[in-house]
Amino acid sequence: MRRSAYVRAELPRKEESVKNKIQLMASARFLAPSAVLETGVKKGQQTILDQPSAPKTGGAETALASPSPLISERAESLAGEAVLPGDKSISHRALIFGALAVGETWVRGLLEGDDVMATAGALREYGVELESDGPGKWRIWGVGVGGFAEPARPLALGNAGTAVRLLMGVAAGHGFTSFFTGDDSLLSRPMKRVADPLTRMGAVITARSACRLPLALTGTSDLLPISYTLPVASAQVKSAILLAGLAAPGETSVIEPAPSRDHSERMLRHFGAEVRLEEEAAGGRKITLVGQPELSAAELSVPADISSAAFPLAAALLVPGSRILLKNVGINPLRCGLLECAREMGGDIEILERRELSGEPVADIAVSAGKLRAIDVPAARAPSMIDEYPILAILAACAEGTSRMRGLGELRHKESDRFTAIVDGLEACGASVVAEQDDLLITGTGAPPPGGAHIASRLDHRIAMAFLVLGMVSRDGVTIDDGTPIATSFPGFVELMNNLGGQIKDV
Ligand code: S3P
Repeated sequence: MRRSAYVRAELPRKEESVKNKIQLMASARFLAPSAVLETGVKKGQQTILDQPSAPKTGGAETALASPSPLISERAESLAGEAVLPGDKSISHRALIFGALAVGETWVRGLLEGDDVMATAGALREYGVELESDGPGKWRIWGVGVGGFAEPARPLALGNAGTAVRLLMGVAAGHGFTSFFTGDDSLLSRPMKRVADPLTRMGAVITARSACRLPLALTGTSDLLPISYTLPVASAQVKSAILLAGLAAPGETSVIEPAPSRDHSERMLRHFGAEVRLEEEAAGGRKITLVGQPELSAAELSVPADISSAAFPLAAALLVPGSRILLKNVGINPLRCGLLECAREMGGDIEILERRELSGEPVADIAVSAGKLRAIDVPAARAPSMIDEYPILAILAACAEGTSRMRGLGELRHKESDRFTAIVDGLEACGASVVAEQDDLLITGTGAPPPGGAHIASRLDHRIAMAFLVLGMVSRDGVTIDDGTPIATSFPGFVELMNNLGGQIKDV
């Protein structure tokens, strides 16, 4: 076992007692101090606090920018080339793996949205030095696996589910306590799926009722490797376990019921770790990581985010006469479910100039408008397009016939309950939508629904953007109550869409 990467004597250790930290959290109005201090924390256990609830308007760390309502009106044809922001999943991982490698990592094309900046802020709290060196260009001075320092403050991760889950994995391998919190959306998201495997590896987790944030995680430098079968396909949970596995001796394996995005596996290899992949029965797979590697600093270029490209792509399919080119988009096969669906609907999509960028496949994507027909989307496709259902629902509402999207239970656990947000929003816009357990049935006439609705974006960037796209083709346009969440994944969305020909304005 090589331990050199574990020694990071030159960086200062921030000494602060757990009790002081609990007081700090409580003073930020996250929890009543008595409720936390009464809770016994035992090794290898999760303690779920039964009360009190999260404050309605968040604590000191919850950024409360004033809401910015937007209206999207019917657009003429869209045209032009779009250079989109970097991939959110890859950007979080680039910063985190860069921080865990030894030496100076360079990243280009990093998404500088709120979510990724929350990860950058948390890494600074862990004593990692990182800085921006021009738009999208970042330098990270990695401290090695196990080299993080105890953070003096709660880690406030805003809206970023990926940040909290991945960082919980890293925190599990450090013998101190990290406190995690976020905005009202993040406070409502389930963390048991990550807490369970990390607890089995030896972390001690104390969380609010139903294992939600705020949450305290006490890690250990004696983490146990595990072999863990995920109950649901989740790249965030898989990645949290692999990140914890970096600090554990021996081999850590994750068995996923269906393949989820593999950016962590690709990036681990890019930084020099050994990762093996085996196909399992019924389409699942087993990912095995050899623990305690010495990750070496690397150079990384982040492709544009296909989950962001999805919005101009859908708009160009819908707005008559459009033709646009989306440049340098990540086309990892485990992220391309929307492209498959759009093509099945009859969408005119060309993949051009396929190439590879830092271990990820990328291409330019040309999209032209045309008539769309209904489709039946199998549940097995969900992991490859889990973030794209809001915009697929908009396409389905404008297509001809009844589309069925199967197995959407996971949508209830995203930045908002997207299942309900889609149903309510489409109904308000005059579309025909039926929910049958975890399936959605959307019937279109081949012409867009009339729109004219005022949509609640529910702190959810993708709900906000999806309904603004619907406004671009609806007779009466669509208003959203707040466009600020869009900055979590797609800063500059309104300007980019308007440069292509959109009509999105402040209300
Ligand atoms: C992500 C994985 C997905 C996705 C999220 C980003 C990631 O979540 O919804 O936006 O970066 O690993 P799950 O892994 O929970 O499905």
